[in-house]
Amino acid sequence: MTERTFSIIKPDAVRQGKAGKILARIEESGFTILSLRMVQMSKKNAESFYAMHRERPFFGSLTDFMSSGPAIVMVLEKANAIADLRKLMGATDPAKADEKTLRKDFATSVEENAIHGSDSPESAATEIPFFFTTLQLQV
Ligand code: RTP
Ligand code: MG
Repeated sequence: MTERTFSIIKPDAVRQGKAGKILARIEESGFTILSLRMVQMSKKNAESFYAMHRERPFFGSLTDFMSSGPAIVMVLEKANAIADLRKLMGATDPAKADEKTLRKDFATSVEENAIHGSDSPESAATEIPFFFTTLQLQV
């Protein structure tokens, strides 16, 4: 059954001109791009988006990073999209990511790790409407 997931090409990857290569890899892996746009998150936007991490020591640094420049937000569709995108992304820390994963190939550090992907159906269900209206998903 077709499933939707939410993804962000993070500011490090956009800044370094890697967005096109990452999008190509996503498409080559069988995902359909249902909706996509560029956003510059405010610090407050980043704090709401990553609210589940507010007690973590890296929260301040993470939200500074996520609001440091334009990012690309998108909704992707495919069978098993949530788990398959996490597999394609690789481990949070690029030093621990498998070969041929996006983080292995494009991330700079455990924080500046190029891409976000929803980690569960519940996360996808809150993350998609955080950035996209129903109208923006009618394609
Ligand atoms: P994401 O939510 O962005 O898809 O990443 P993830 O599930 O692989 O990792 P998560 O534990 O949810 O962490 C969210 C983001 O916070 C930054 N981080 N920094 N300095 C650190 O030790 C550290 N740990 C995590 C990363 O940008 C990570 O993707
Ligand atoms: Mg996460």
